[in-house]
Formats: sequence, structure tokens, C-alpha cells
Amino acid sequence: MKIAFIGGGNMGEAMLSAVLGKHLATIQSVIASDSSPERRQYLTSKYGIAVIDDNRKTVAGADVIVLAIKPQNLAEVMAELNGLLGPEQLVLSIIAGVRLDTICQGLGHRAVVRAMPNTPAQIGQGMTVWTATEEVSEQQNEWAGSILSVMGHEIAVSSEDQIDMATAISGSGPAYLFLFVEALVNAAVQLGLSHDMAQELVLTTVLGSGHLIEESGIEPAELRRMVTSPGGTTAEALREFEQGEFSELLTRAVRAAYERAKQLGS
Ligand SMILES: NC(=O)c1ccc[n+]([C@@H]2O[C@H](COP(=O)([O-])OP(=O)(O)OC[C@H]3O[C@@H](n4cnc5c(N)ncnc54)[C@H](OP(=O)(O)O)[C@@H]3O)[C@@H](O)[C@H]2O)c1
Repeated sequence: MKIAFIGGGNMGEAMLSAVLGKHLATIQSVIASDSSPERRQYLTSKYGIAVIDDNRKTVAGADVIVLAIKPQNLAEVMAELNGLLGPEQLVLSIIAGVRLDTICQGLGHRAVVRAMPNTPAQIGQGMTVWTATEEVSEQQNEWAGSILSVMGHEIAVSSEDQIDMATAISGSGPAYLFLFVEALVNAAVQLGLSHDMAQELVLTTVLGSGHLIEESGIEPAELRRMVTSPGGTTAEALREFEQGEFSELLTRAVRAAYERAKQLGS
């Protein structure tokens, strides 16, 4: 499979690094373009792939064209590539908030996948939710699934509304967790622990608890009940969470992200 990356920034690099690292493609079958000379030099010297400053040449002969540019650069790229692609070529966009219709119209091309990865994809632990136009063939769907799975988990959905919902959960979710970790570390420091120790306690607790949910197969609500003895310390803390309407706050935050995702795509 020949893969062309338009944009070799954070996410483009994460994808091409995973594609090469997991031997989905060879360095000869991957090409990238980037408008930044420093970026081009960096990617060529690190990965040994061709990185050029010509989007039209980059997509020539590619099976899959990954769009990994920022939304503000999309219009110029679509104008450059309009009418250039054949139906056998798949466009895989990871650009947040840009709908399939916009890409199809801008490129004059129908075989398009829209994917929403998240930041842990950069270390192969990502969650990507994606959807495809009707014109995407079975083989192209397989290409998309295999490219996205090298960055972690992937789930194909049938509507873009589910992409907006996933954006509010897995897309923005890492930031919710970073905030929780930050706040818990601060609370630990306020109790009197050193910052280093607080960070270690919190990180180990978060990671260990996540693995426990996954490996035990027990529902999180049940695991919570199991560590909450009546009259104990956890019960005291959870009562405070409840009084502060923690669950309602999270629901409001997720809803706000979802509404914003819909608005960005309209
Ligand atoms: N980071 C994430 O976790 C994440 C998660 C989900 C989705 N996404 C999406 O992924 C996309 C890329 O994000 P990113 O964080 O990788 O951005 P980024 O680091 O800014 O990378 C974009 C790269 O594209 C280059 N570029 C700009 N215009 C170009 C053009 N016309 N032709 C070729 N290359 C061009 C940029 O060069 P210059 O610096 O010279 O402009 C930059 O190196 C975004 O649309 C974002 O919504 C990112």
C-alpha cells in the first residue's frame, strides 16, 4: 500500500511513524509533503522517507492520501488537489471538525474517510473513531482500518454525528483526564506531600485503576462500591463529589464539547 501524507506535523508524524514501525508500509512506499522546510528535513533524516514541498506530486500514485493539516490550511490544499484524484485513491482525513461533504466537494472526489484520533495515538495508545462515504470500497475500508489501528484502537461508525459524539468523549477526553490528574496532584501537595511523590501516587493510581477496569472485567460502578466501606475514607470523599454534583458537571462538559463539535462542522 502506497501512503501519502499531506502535513507531517505532530499527528502526521505519529501516523507515519506507526505505519513504518508496525511494517504496514516500507519507507519506499511512504511519501509526505509539508510546507515547513525544517519539518521536511527532520522527517527525512529521522524516517528516511521522501518529504517534499509539492502536494500534487505527493499524491500521484498513492493508494491512500492522509490529510493531516490544520483546518485553516485545508482550503488551499483542496484547491491544489481538486480533480486530481482517481476513485481508486482513498482520502483519509484526520482534520478535526471538517465534514465529509466539505472534503468531497473541495477535492471533487468521493472516496473519503473522516477519522477522529486522540493524542495518545502519538504513542500507539489512541482511540480513533471513523466513518466513510458510500463510495469507499471494501478494500479502501480495510486500508483505513489497518492504518488507523497502528495508532491504537479504532471503531468504524456509520454517521458523522457519532464522530461529533466521540470528539466530546475520546477526542477531548485526554484533556479531562489531564485536568483530573493535575487537580489531584495539587490536592495532594496541599495535604503536605512533595510534588514528585504526589505525581507518582496519582499517576500510578490512575494507570493502575484503568488497567484494573480493563483486566477485571468488572463494571466501574461495582469496583467503586467494592472500595467504598460504609463510614470509611472513600465514602467521605465520594460524598463531597456528590454534593459538588460531579457527574452532572461532567455531563454538562461533555454536552458543551459535543455542541461545539457540531458547530465547528456546520
Ligand atoms: N494533535 C492531535 O492530537 C489531533 C487529534 C485529532 C485530530 N487532529 C487533527 O490533525 C490535524 C493535524 O494536527 P497537528 O497537531 O499534527 O498539526 P501540526 O503539528 O500543525 O501539523 C500540520 C503540518 O502541516 C503543515 N502544512 C501547513 N500547510 C500545509 C500545506 N498547504 N501543505 C502541506 N503541509 C502543510 C504545517 O506546516 P507549517 O507549520 O509550516 O504550517 C505542519 O507541519 C489537525 O487538523 C487536527 O485537527 C489532531
